[in-house]
Formats: sequence, structure tokens, C-alpha cells
Amino acid sequence: MSTLQDALSDPQNVGEMPDADAVGTVGSPDCGDMVRMWLKYKDKDGKKVIDKASFQSFGCQTAIAVASLATELIRGKTKEEALLMSAAELSAPLGPLPPMKIHCGQMVEGALKAALESETSVAQAIAPPTAIGPTLVDSLQAAGKTAGKIKIILQS
Ligand code: FES
Repeated sequence: MSTLQDALSDPQNVGEMPDADAVGTVGSPDCGDMVRMWLKYKDKDGKKVIDKASFQSFGCQTAIAVASLATELIRGKTKEEALLMSAAELSAPLGPLPPMKIHCGQMVEGALKAALESETSVAQAIAPPTAIGPTLVDSLQAAGKTAGKIKIILQS
């Protein structure tokens, strides 16, 4: 595990992971910074655990240090265990963050949770279609509901 100094001066696990199983990105409305986190799983004793994690941060030093620590702290954890980790736990080796830096840790927590949950949605996305699939009109109406932009006029 890195020391605080290492995390600040030589962040670990920086960079895109081309063979990742999941990826999550979160931006902070407070400062406009962003963190993206990649996860790769492996089987260990019949359990699926995080084999490795990496990140990219377009953010401040604190966000980079917390992200670096997070990628090391979550190694070997199951998805459920990693989901329970709070920003405070991920940044614990840095000591308590000053109030204006709390959101940096929360952004890392958010990117981690987004990555942990993104895999679920990938699995859902490739789930077999239900017996009666949605029609094009259903899809457009659903898109219209979410985007609020598409107007459908049925021609008779
Ligand atoms: Fe916004 Fe650190 S992520 S100041």
C-alpha cells in the first residue's frame, strides 16, 4: 500500500485499462473536475473479486491521491464490499480532508460506485429480450420521456 507521500507524488494505477470489465465516470459540479475509474474482476476461491483498478483524473491533487489510494484499497474486494466503501474510508490515509476538499473524495467514491454498478447495466443490456420486445414506437416514446425532446405523431 502506498504512503500518503507516494500517493501524492507518484500516484499508482493511472491510465486507461483497455481490457476492463467496467468503467465509471463522475464529474464534480463543485469544481468541474472529473474522475474515471476502470475495474477488472477475477475469480478467487469461487468469489468474484476486483483484480485491479485504474483511474484517470482531470482533477486536483487530492482527487488524484484519493483515486490512487482507492485503486489499491479495493483490490481483492468483492463488488458488495467495494460498494460499502465511503469517501472517508477511501481517503483515510490522507487524514481528514478540509471542508473544501471533501467533494474530491466523494467524486472518487462516485466514480468507483459508477464503475461497480456499470457492470450490472452492461449485464442487463445484454440480457435476452423478453418474449414481446418493445416496438419502435415504444422505444421512441420511452426516449421521448427521458429526453423530453421527441414528439411522436402517429399517422393514420
Ligand atoms: Fe474539485 Fe478536488 S476535485 S477541488
